[in-house]
Formats: sequence, C-alpha cells, structure tokens
Amino acid sequence: MTDSLTIEGYKSASLALRDKNLRQALYDEGAIVMKDVLVNLHGEQHKSRRALETKVFRRDFFKYYESEIFPGTLNETLAPFISSGAMDLVDFGYRVMVNLTADFTGLDRRQKTPEETADLMALLRLFGKTATLAHATGEKDTVRNDAAEALERFDDTYVQPSIDRRRSMLEKLHKGEIEEESLPRDILMVLLRNEDNIELPREVITREMAFFALAGAHTSIHTLTHATHELLEWLESHPTKRETILNEPRLIQKCILESIRLHPSSPIAARRALCPMTVESETLDKDAKVVINLQAANRSKEIFGEDADQFNPDRILPKGQSRYGLSFGQGMHACLGLNLAAGILPPEGKPVDHMGTIALIVEALVKKGIRKDPYQKPEKDPSTARDLWGYYPVRFQG
Ligand code: HEM
Repeated sequence: MTDSLTIEGYKSASLALRDKNLRQALYDEGAIVMKDVLVNLHGEQHKSRRALETKVFRRDFFKYYESEIFPGTLNETLAPFISSGAMDLVDFGYRVMVNLTADFTGLDRRQKTPEETADLMALLRLFGKTATLAHATGEKDTVRNDAAEALERFDDTYVQPSIDRRRSMLEKLHKGEIEEESLPRDILMVLLRNEDNIELPREVITREMAFFALAGAHTSIHTLTHATHELLEWLESHPTKRETILNEPRLIQKCILESIRLHPSSPIAARRALCPMTVESETLDKDAKVVINLQAANRSKEIFGEDADQFNPDRILPKGQSRYGLSFGQGMHACLGLNLAAGILPPEGKPVDHMGTIALIVEALVKKGIRKDPYQKPEKDPSTARDLWGYYPVRFQG
C-alpha cells in the first residue's frame, strides 16, 4: 500500500486522467479562489455544472468568437505597440486575453479604460498565483490574504454589477420587451438562467467567474509566450520560413500545438484516490495522492519519437495521436476551451478555417515582423516553480 504515486508514462497518465475513482487534487491549497468551482467538483455535481456551462459553447460559438469578436480586440490591443515598435510579450498577452476572457465569462467592463484592464489584469495575476499556490516560491499566507481581499473587490466591482445588468435583461425578456438574441452569450448568463436548476450559491458564482477568467486567460497567456519563443527560435534555424510561413496557416497551427505539448500550462495534474485502488500495479490507500506528470508524459519517446524533447512542428505522429499530447487534460475535466484556444487542425491539404485564438495572435505578430529584442534578455517568472516567462521583450520590423 502507498499513499502517493507519480505517473510519468503517457498511457498510464491518460488512464489516470480518465479514472473516475480519482478526484481533483491540484487546487487544494488554492481553496480561497477554487473551492467548489467546476474543475474542483466530482461525480454528479461536476456532471450537472459542466452540462449547464457547456451551453455557452453552442456549435457556432467558436466561429462567431474568432471571426466577429476576436479580430477587433486583437488589433486594438496591438496597435499602440506596433506604433512604438516594441513590447513585453507577457504584458501584451495579459492585455489581449483579459478583455476577451472577460467577454465570454460575462464580466462587464463598464469603463472600458486602460486602467480598468490593468485592474483586471492585476486581479487575475493574483487569482492565478492563489489557484496554483502549491507551486508558489514565496510567502503563501500573504498570497492567501491578498486573494481574499481581492475576491471581495472583484465581486463588488465586476461580478455584482454584471449580475444586475443580466437580471434586468432577463426581466425584459420575460415581459417580451427584448428578444432572446439580445442577451449576452456568456457563462454568467447561463449560470443566472440556470435552466437545469442546479444548486449554485451566490458566493460560488463569484469564484466560478474568477476561475473561468483564469482558465481562459492565464493558460492562453503563458502558452502564447512559450509558443512565440519556440517559433522565433525555430525561424532562426529555418530562415527561409520567415518569408513563407504566413502562407502556411496549417504550419503556424502545428507550431502552436507542438509548443503546447512541450510546455503544458499545468506541468502536472494531481488527483486523490476515492477508495483503495490499484494504479500502475501499485496499491493505493484511500486518499492517496496521485501526481500525473503531464510534461514528462508529453515527452514520451515511445509516442513522439526520439526527438520528443525538441520543438519539431513537422513531427510524424502515430495514427489518432493528438499533437498537443495531454496538455488539455482528458476524461471528465478535459478542457472546455480547447477548441477556442487551439482551434481544429484540418487534415493535410485541407484549408484552415478555425485556427484558435493563440495561432491567430501569433500569425498577427509574425505579420508585423516580430523579432526578439536584441538589447534585452527575456526572463522566467521567479515567483513560481512553474516554467513560465515573466518578461519577454520583442520588437517589430516591417
Ligand atoms: C492553451 C490554453 C489552455 C490549456 C493548455 C488548458 C488546459 C486545461 C487542462 C489541462 C485542464 C484539465 C485540468 C485537470 O484535469 O485537472 C483544463 C480544464 C478546463 N479548461 Fe482549459 N486550457 C486552456 C484554455 C482554456 C480556455 C480558453 C478556457 C475557456 C473557455 C478553458 C476552460 C477550461 C475549463 C472550464 C476547464 C475545467 C473543465 C472541467 O473541470 O470540467 N481552458 N484546461
């Protein structure tokens, strides 16, 4: 019998992620923000919350979002940096993703000013640190106290006003004063309508808003920096591709997926055994902790080949194998935003028509001639043991 186990093999990791006798355990230390949010629920509670929230992602949602909402926000956010000729990619990632995530989460930004964006960015940075407190390198109690205060302010400034506006729209809908189509398509609206009548206390709504904003923004921001870094390095060793890559959207998309495989947003998943059980021939006690090392599994030579540790967007994969490995999870907690962030890679020879937000951003940056800043070095984030860029200076060249 053992009370902890780490899994590194790809197939065992995949099996563990899909095992219903293992419950979520990654966010136990981050309960201030993560208690009772979707990714922390199990069994029936999880199933019914997920079914309700999935209603936002109706069939046409991603296309609508990618073609109607995203290009405007991307251009607006990028324009001042193109004029100045330089930026920090991490800061830019926060700016572009925060506004977009706020839109589909249902957090109204009443002022729409740069100060308001900066405020939301600061809140998200703090919630992100709290959710992944297990990996923090600094003083954990300080982070917890700051997060509790921030959550209250987040509720007063963003969540409650957003709830009030949606409730008043729902009232108008019931009186026949507005049409269904005028309602915002976001998570908060779905939770307030609660068509499935699930139990949803008011304070859980606030944490669910914080979690969704995090799940959408944080993961994509860090993926954006890793993917751009990998692509810039790759273009240095494949200089002729600089000119042609813009005519190869499928290659851009493959670069993003390859980077996501090498740098999963969360390097590990963690679970606890709900009953005594056997995993990888080990007998686990009830409550034993299982750490699933996604980063190691994603570098399996058996699945991805001898160069599994390297960035190789042209790698040939076994039939049916995803390019991004286990980075979007699998099983009951499989990522709801996969399609939004990473699009759908069409078969060879078919046109790309939904490349995902990260590839769209990287494509826009390459169009503007993005280069590493020759005078400043990028830096990793020292406040976490996670492999994240904290500062990544770039320049634009026409
Ligand atoms: C590159 C971007 C992203 C990556 C790598 C990523 C990764 C993941 C992973 C690994 C999980 C599973 C966690 C676990 O099993 O413990 C997950 C769950 C989730 N993701 Fe993402 N994610 C990304 C973007 C997004 C976006 C844009 C959204 C917003 C819609 C989103 C929403 C969610 C939600 C709601 C869950 C929880 C699902 C559940 O518990 O049922 N993610 N994500």
